[in-house]
Amino acid sequence: MEALTWSVTQAEREFYGEHLVLLEGAISEFLSCMDMIRRYRVSLGKDDPVASVQARIKGADSMRQKLKRQGLPVTVDSALHKVWDAAGVRLICPFVSEIYTTASLIRGIPGIRVLREKDYVRFPKPNGYRSYHMVVCLPLRFLERQQQPVWLELQIRTIAMDCWASIEHQLKYKKDIPNQKLIVQELKRCADEIASTDLSLQTIRELIEGSEREELPCGF
Ligand code: GTP
Ligand code: MG
Repeated sequence: MEALTWSVTQAEREFYGEHLVLLEGAISEFLSCMDMIRRYRVSLGKDDPVASVQARIKGADSMRQKLKRQGLPVTVDSALHKVWDAAGVRLICPFVSEIYTTASLIRGIPGIRVLREKDYVRFPKPNGYRSYHMVVCLPLRFLERQQQPVWLELQIRTIAMDCWASIEHQLKYKKDIPNQKLIVQELKRCADEIASTDLSLQTIRELIEGSEREELPCGF
């Protein structure tokens, strides 16, 4: 599976201080568990439900803005304990069914605590956003005395959902433009078309797997 790095600048080092090591530790621990689980499945001849993975530490500016927005003290303590997404991992799956396979593999990681799950795949946001969100906590074994929990926000989505979310996120920054209503409508239409394509791809996969199974000789 792919080696993964995430960018951290001086601004994050200053804001999170020594806690940065905990956030990075939680991401590494989670990714290493997922990597092993995926390799094990592949070694059993099963499909890898994850096409690619991204990880990030929330930028210092973005964290400060979020804490202000929520009326919380702008401190590293609030960043770690009052909001869940200082550390985040995105898992991108080829097919919709694999979102649920991935979520269930995550629930099975020994020692993991799942705090929250939000299924925006079955229940999309009004703007069309689809993704499966989990907030989890994994015990960090490298520092015995550091028992404070570190939360990880996980986003699990298909390649197509990720494509939509990335573009929509980019367009959100372009405020103060005319035709807002039309743009929102059109983005929603694209999200729904993407969801329909995802379902067609899932059906095609099932057709292919069904026919592959029929072609296999007896005993397989
Ligand atoms: P946040 O304060 O935004 O983290 O909201 P929340 O804690 O209620 O969580 P939610 O599950 O709604 O969203 C968490 C994250 O999912 C966001 O920070 C985004 O990265 C992503 N997300 C949620 N809604 C949207 C959306 O409409 N568009 C895009 N592009 N991303 C979204
Ligand atoms: Mg967030």
